Amino acid sequence: MNKQSPIGVIDSGVGGLTVLKCMMEHMPQENLLYLGDTARTPYGSRSREEIQSFVDEMIAWLVAQGVKQVVVACNTVTMLGLENIKKNHDFDIVGMSKGENTLLSLTKNKKIGVIATEFTIKSEAHKKAILAVDPTAEVVGVPCPKFVPLIEGEQFDSQELKDAVNEYTSILKKAGVDIMIMSCTHFPFVRDLLGQYLGAGVALVNPADETCENARKNLQSKNLVNDGAQGSVTICCTADLERVKRLAAREIDIEKCTFKVVNLEDVK
Ligand code: DGL
Repeated sequence: MNKQSPIGVIDSGVGGLTVLKCMMEHMPQENLLYLGDTARTPYGSRSREEIQSFVDEMIAWLVAQGVKQVVVACNTVTMLGLENIKKNHDFDIVGMSKGENTLLSLTKNKKIGVIATEFTIKSEAHKKAILAVDPTAEVVGVPCPKFVPLIEGEQFDSQELKDAVNEYTSILKKAGVDIMIMSCTHFPFVRDLLGQYLGAGVALVNPADETCENARKNLQSKNLVNDGAQGSVTICCTADLERVKRLAAREIDIEKCTFKVVNLEDVK
């Protein structure tokens, strides 16, 4: 492992590309190696055991690529606990930030919305993190299981997506939240629609920035920041390369990226 080794970035599908976008902006000198398990997405409605076994396979594949750090660009996988992902590997793992301090510094009425997968909301990790800083805050968690299949399925102009956005944001509006965190990395793909339905009075927080900053600080502390001029970006997926390219183009400059389909079995 050295400074030029790639940083692995994982997600169940294309969601983590919203974090990769941030890393491309703030860590342009790093070699970034994205792996999205598009063959088995979504993860958010699956059992802990199943998610853990898929993640073990992704990490084994990244080990074979010689990564120096892994950014878990997936809130659902982060909920497994970073120690369950790291195991005995010598690289560090950075999970999705829960954004508790940012949320509490920006809210005026202390009513905070969290939207995420069923798995993430059930864990109550965000609620616990926010209440640990300020027990007087009110946290409204809304599981949004319809979003990931619609986003992976490129249903951006569908009535189904508008209905789902309306259903989930209505709960938050009724509760009177003045800020909401997108705690599933797929959701920034529909940030504009979420903003429209929530209205100007509700701020939207994307924890990707904080996550990216944590990844950068971690590399610095390990003296592993790449001092090269320009890093490379490779986007790998386990299925549907053309669909992944179209979705990636919504978030990032795909001219800067190399795309590949990979078989996670190859390292076994
Ligand atoms: N993008 C993921 C997250 O941040 C998971 C979506 C899914 O596979 O259900 O939670």
